[in-house]
Amino acid sequence: MSENTVTEVVQGVYRLSANVDNILFEGIWPIPKGVAMNSYIVKGDKVAIIDGVCEWDGVPETLFAQLEQMQVKVEDIDYVILNHLEPDHTGWLNAFKKIRSDFTIVTSKKGAAVAEAFYGITENIHTVSSGDEIDLGQGRVLQFYEIPNVHWPETIATYDTRSKTLFPCDAFGSFGSVSSSAPYDDQLTQDEIDFFEDEALRYYANIVGAFSLPTRKAIEKLGPLDIQIIAPGHGIVWRKDPAKIVNDYIRYVSYSKGPAKPHVTVIWGSMYGMTEQGVQPVVEGLESAGVTVHVHRIPESNISYILKDVWQSTGVVLGMPTYEYKMFPPMVAALDEIGKKKALNRKAFRFGSYGWSGGAQKELDEITERLKMNWDFIEPVEFKGAPSAAELELIRTRGRELGEAVVQAVNAASGS
Ligand SMILES: Cc1cc2nc3c(=O)[nH]c(=O)nc-3n(C[C@H](O)[C@H](O)[C@H](O)COP(=O)(O)O)c2cc1C
Ligand SMILES: [Fe+2]
Ligand SMILES: [Fe+2]
Repeated sequence: MSENTVTEVVQGVYRLSANVDNILFEGIWPIPKGVAMNSYIVKGDKVAIIDGVCEWDGVPETLFAQLEQMQVKVEDIDYVILNHLEPDHTGWLNAFKKIRSDFTIVTSKKGAAVAEAFYGITENIHTVSSGDEIDLGQGRVLQFYEIPNVHWPETIATYDTRSKTLFPCDAFGSFGSVSSSAPYDDQLTQDEIDFFEDEALRYYANIVGAFSLPTRKAIEKLGPLDIQIIAPGHGIVWRKDPAKIVNDYIRYVSYSKGPAKPHVTVIWGSMYGMTEQGVQPVVEGLESAGVTVHVHRIPESNISYILKDVWQSTGVVLGMPTYEYKMFPPMVAALDEIGKKKALNRKAFRFGSYGWSGGAQKELDEITERLKMNWDFIEPVEFKGAPSAAELELIRTRGRELGEAVVQAVNAASGS
């Protein structure tokens, strides 16, 4: 848990936050470097809290202690603005309700239904649509914009017209614990910014990727706003260069349909080391074409990191044996998740060993078709038992071919 430090984002806007690192995010994704659960207090004559925090392990208590530190009594909060009802932002409502019951919840129409479903809240709900406003006094008017499916259907973004701060909740968010005394981009070194770029990419690929189209629509919808500050529900606050995270997200959105970076992710699994023999040659072939290569062995490598690398890669290599007339099972699981996250239109190559009849291809076709992945495969290399020297050489050649196709696709997309 982070130390109790509240900081002023800009006059009248305060950031409260707690870092969490001892859970799997969404019950799936490892966060060894933590994640920040951010909440914001906006003060006019009236006080609003935008986004909340989860109810995990002392987090609501951290939020309440931070309110105390800034001399805001829970009773002083007039509006609880729920940009997004997912319990990582709303779990604390259970604790809050015990202290106070007459606050006004601000959410979208769809959000009202979710508030009832999760927290049994049916009263004092003020529903808003795009363009609606709440005047907090002292020239501080909050505007609301529906950005459905970033990441749940009820999601809205809140915009403070006075400080020109956008509170987009999960959009523009990132994994990674944030120092509570230095949570602003203007306080961070380039290395720290790079760390959050990496964690934002993983966050995007894991949490937001499947919603790339709605995210693009949200960015277009919010585009006309004069945004000086971006204060997301997770990660750092962008005060110096809010365009940086917007542009990163625009890139991440575009990676769904590809091409992405001139990178290739090699995902491989092997029972007795036959398929494994093809890994080094394929990596060498890829590298000879000048692409950056990420290698993940399955099931050892966590899907969270595989997704991140596939997301930023224009090409993917799948190396796996046949197993009970189908694909090596961990590859089925990985590919299924990659397809559901909508890493589409990749350049791809498959190689692997079989014992007598093979069968991996049929299942591969079935998954890529079912999930409409539209991956463009070059001819696979399959070998019976151990690969021959000629087969290993062919794998190297195909690696190079794939690498060249990736470079070409990236160059074509960038117009060079
Ligand atoms: C549990 C198991 C199931 C297998 N099922 C098949 C199969 O259905 N068809 C086939 O051609 N080979 C099958 N094989 C043989 C493997 O594909 C073969 O041993 C291959 O060389 C394994 O490559 P690896 O060492 O990279 O795992 C199976 C092997 C095992 C251990
Ligand atoms: Fe969410
Ligand atoms: Fe979230």
